[in-house]
Amino acid sequence: MVGAAITLVAGGLFIVFLVIEQYIRDPNPYLGIFVYMALPPVLMLGILLIPIGMLRTKRIIRKRGDLPMPKWPAVDLNKRPHRNAFFVFSVGTVALILVGTVGGYQAFHFSESVEFCGTTCHEVMKPEHVAYQSSAHARVACTSCHVGPGAGWYARSKLSGAYQVYATARNIYPRPIPTPVKALRPAQETCEKCHWPEKFFSAQQKRFNHFMYDEQNTAWPINILLKTGGGGHETREPMGIHWHMNISRKIEYIARDERRQDIPWIRVTDRKTQVVAIFQNEEDPLTEEEIAAATPRVMDCMDCHNRPSHNYHSPDHLMDQSMASGRIDPSLPEVKRIAVEAMSEMYDTEEEALSAIATAVSRFYTDEYPEVAQTRQNAIEATILEIQQRYSTNMFPEMKVRWDQYPDNIGHFINPGCMRCHDGNHVSDQGAVVSRDCTSCHAILSQGSGDRTEWATSIAGLDFVHPEDIDEEWKESGCYECHEGTQP
Ligand code: HEC
Ligand code: HEC
Ligand code: HEC
Ligand code: HEC
Ligand code: HEC
Ligand code: HEC
Repeated sequence: MVGAAITLVAGGLFIVFLVIEQYIRDPNPYLGIFVYMALPPVLMLGILLIPIGMLRTKRIIRKRGDLPMPKWPAVDLNKRPHRNAFFVFSVGTVALILVGTVGGYQAFHFSESVEFCGTTCHEVMKPEHVAYQSSAHARVACTSCHVGPGAGWYARSKLSGAYQVYATARNIYPRPIPTPVKALRPAQETCEKCHWPEKFFSAQQKRFNHFMYDEQNTAWPINILLKTGGGGHETREPMGIHWHMNISRKIEYIARDERRQDIPWIRVTDRKTQVVAIFQNEEDPLTEEEIAAATPRVMDCMDCHNRPSHNYHSPDHLMDQSMASGRIDPSLPEVKRIAVEAMSEMYDTEEEALSAIATAVSRFYTDEYPEVAQTRQNAIEATILEIQQRYSTNMFPEMKVRWDQYPDNIGHFINPGCMRCHDGNHVSDQGAVVSRDCTSCHAILSQGSGDRTEWATSIAGLDFVHPEDIDEEWKESGCYECHEGTQP
């Protein structure tokens, strides 16, 4: 009786909420948790209690020796009570199976939804969920990259998810969440389900907006033609940057560190001829023993595109964007310098950060440029709002997430990226060098502003000009050695 009551109540609630959920536009994730995760076990408990109760009653009756109990119930549909019981039982079973199937299917979908992955654990997934919404993949579900198709990975993800729930409940999860994600499914089974690796991309023109840290915030835009390339189908030999996509060659490497930022050893195998070339960092090679002990990693999309969906930008980049788009007025003196400084301080909470940013910027203008503070109140307020907005969508002090915690491997401006291998020090036994030549990956189409603007007159592009006189330093060191996402 208790079982039947629980089943009825839980089943009824389940159906009511199922219907409600279909009609709400943005259901709260807790509704989903309640309907698909909390109710079904209660329903199951109710259903289980029914046969347990029946068995128990049967045993009591048999002990009393009142009735000779047959092994199986004898059903006689000519008797009204039997007929009613039979009817209730069959209809009930069919209804339960139906609800169970619909519920199971919905539960599966719910536990795969962006809303479930991104918002149920509040703080934990906030950085990823927020950054994701302004990425090129904002319409690709988290699970397309993190789980992918098939039952095996689904089960695996739920198992590791169970531990993650435990870690969240006990508040023992690491902050920030460490990367690279070791258990990430290989790119062949995720990225390559949507992106065809043999596709040839034409060169892509990209504009990088920069502003200097001087009083005038001098603009220094750079236009680049990126030789993305690819290919490999029909007649085209793979070329350009996507040459690495494992189409005609296999590239493996050994990294010294967990984060795969220090790569002293690379092996390239030509798939047709099986010719192998090994490139080693001349300045800092691995020993024979270290090579023998390591398992080389096969390079894939993630070794360059490691932030396809969670890109936490640097203060330098964010302010360049805001100034280029006009949301911060570049005519405010020293605005880039003060904004970047305020954003890159270490804070404990978002609230603290936002109020500290406001104080720092307004105090700066009152103290250093009192006239500007008086006459351009609106521009200063708009600037503060913009910095705060950019801060809260890119930096997450509660999770200790910032640009400097998660290196982005595309490019080489504030992280080594391509220069992990293309630093000019990686040499093969045959004397070939992994190229550091500035024209091998892109051509500079234009650079600079005002009377320092230069335009390319040939497809080879311009020789790079560093906006600040640093001599030939940029030829010797990587940009990232001075440019760390803040003022160099
Ligand atoms: C386009 C594919 C893609 C999508 C969509 C995606 N991720 Fe990721 N995510 C990745 C990759 C690749 C990494 C691994 C980065 C690394 O190992 O350096 C990652 C890493 C993470 C990490 C580890 C910490 C970090 O910031 O790197 C978390 C947590 C995470 N993703 C959660 C999510 C959530 C939640 C969503 C949906 C809101 C989501 N991801 C959507 C590709 C994706
Ligand atoms: C479910 C399909 C899907 C999966 C899985 C997927 N992508 Fe994408 N990706 C897209 C779509 C769609 C776009 C284009 C978005 C647009 O231009 O509106 C895109 C765009 C991109 C771009 C161009 C970004 C830009 O800024 O222009 C890159 C790079 C990329 N994806 C890499 C990856 C990598 C790496 C993975 C695996 C971690 C991955 N994608 C997984 C669908 C997918
Ligand atoms: C030895 C250190 C050093 C190296 C190496 C270096 N830079 Fe700079 N860079 C500076 C300094 C210092 C400034 C001046 C900061 C200012 O006042 O704007 C600067 C300013 C810039 C600016 C304009 C302001 C900004 O931060 O956006 C750009 C663009 C730039 N550098 C690009 C590069 C590139 C690209 C490379 C690599 C090819 C590079 N730099 C290598 C030190 C360096
Ligand atoms: C050697 C590093 C590297 C590897 C490996 C790599 N890419 Fe790329 N990819 C790039 C660079 C660099 C760009 C240029 C765009 C940029 O800088 O954001 C790019 C661009 C793209 C674009 C956008 C192209 C366009 O013109 O809009 C897509 C999509 C993409 N990559 C997908 C992939 C996929 C899928 C894989 C794995 C099969 C992969 N890439 C492997 C470096 C790489
Ligand atoms: C793990 C090491 C590694 C990383 C990281 C890496 N590359 Fe390479 N790359 C190589 C090797 C090895 C070669 C082949 C050198 C040779 O055969 O002479 C190569 C060749 C190239 C080529 C020449 C292809 C051709 O047409 O011959 C381009 C362009 C290139 N890489 C661009 C990039 C870019 C852009 C990035 C960063 C987004 C990058 N690489 C990151 C190892 C790497
Ligand atoms: C191995 C390939 C490769 C080599 C070699 C290379 N670059 Fe780049 N560079 C890239 C890629 C890829 C990007 C684009 C990054 C992105 O999309 O964010 C880039 C971006 C840049 C940018 C714009 C950066 C920004 O954020 O404003 C400058 C400037 C630049 N490179 C200059 C140079 C100079 C100077 C050299 C020679 C010392 C050089 N590059 C060598 C691959 C390369």
